[in-house]
Amino acid sequence: MNIAKKIYCRLFQFGFKVAIPLLPYRSPHILNKVDEIPQLLKKKDINNVMLVTDEQIRKFGITKRLELILKEQGFKLTVYDKVQSNPTVRIVEEARQQYIQNNCQALIGFGGGSSMDCAKAVGALIARPKSTLEDLGGILRVWARTPYNIAIPTTAGTGSETTVAAVILDDETGHKYALMDFPLIPDVAVLDPETTRTLPPKITAGTGMDTLAHAVEAYIGGSTTRQTRREALRCVRLVFKYLERAVKNGNDMQARRGMLRASYLGGCAFTVSYVGYAHAVSHSLSGRYNLPHGETTAVILPYVLEAYGTAIYPQLKALAIAAGIAHMDTDETIAAQSFIRAVWELNRRIGIGSRIPAIKPEDIDKMAQMADAEGNPVYPVPVLMDAKQLKRFYVDVYEQGGTRA
Ligand SMILES: [Fe+2]
Repeated sequence: MNIAKKIYCRLFQFGFKVAIPLLPYRSPHILNKVDEIPQLLKKKDINNVMLVTDEQIRKFGITKRLELILKEQGFKLTVYDKVQSNPTVRIVEEARQQYIQNNCQALIGFGGGSSMDCAKAVGALIARPKSTLEDLGGILRVWARTPYNIAIPTTAGTGSETTVAAVILDDETGHKYALMDFPLIPDVAVLDPETTRTLPPKITAGTGMDTLAHAVEAYIGGSTTRQTRREALRCVRLVFKYLERAVKNGNDMQARRGMLRASYLGGCAFTVSYVGYAHAVSHSLSGRYNLPHGETTAVILPYVLEAYGTAIYPQLKALAIAAGIAHMDTDETIAAQSFIRAVWELNRRIGIGSRIPAIKPEDIDKMAQMADAEGNPVYPVPVLMDAKQLKRFYVDVYEQGGTRA
């Protein structure tokens, strides 16, 4: 990256870092059980709600308990269950129309990141009826009170239950972009491990590593606060303790609960301190080839950590201590390299590979430009890279181009 762009990026990031204490970050109210929702809605004088979810989750009966108790207690319930992985502009618009037609007063995003993001995006359009999603994409463009929003994650997770972001896919261009504004932070997050019990091992693995990436990228970035560093370290400790257990035995409720907590903490960390190039590269890949975000991020993460080199060794040592693989007196280089190795090994043990065979070499230039546009100047990454430098990650994970077995 040339020096002028580097200066621009760092000044931009410095501006946002200085502004952190002035910005209206808030944490959602936490409920531990879905059953507590009706009482809360009554307190808020809300009796007409819209559930935003996907067909699979509904088919597995995961939303059934909530639907029953809401109906039993006299709530009017509208269900929109057409969310797909990577919610599209068309889907958000469809859900918005149902919300208006049924005079709903609140949104419940019940599912993975896609359902929660879809509910947030519907809220943004309700708050700003004259704007399109594209108008609202980017930082601080919603700027209006959104409807009461309850987020119920069924994966652990995207952290969407606590973040300012809603990621949307433009179905026509394949471009993924995020709406990022404070009104999008859900009012309530329901961390009920029962909602994750039936999550298949593959999705548990991918979304769990996404959680790890949130904490790691936030921690190694240049915009941390004492609180986000603490949240990131707690998240990393929980992921290394519980993710493998949750993947291998979905009924291990202690592990499921630990991962939901990790997801929430990772979300709290990155919504203030941002993610980094693992996410920027991953978004371009999952948008282009419709791949699950968690899995692509998991594959990319250790390559990115290796590429940052010694610049992040002090932070990686702290992460290694949190993960339980190093001590205070461990040599910094050894601890840092052990952490990267531990990420590779955790990926391998839970069935995540080190390649993305879907990549087509002719797409790499375009995707690297998209990652550059997403990451720079917003993400306060430890080492700045432009599109040309980011290309290495696509080549690394491309089936024939990779260097790691
Ligand atoms: Fe993520």
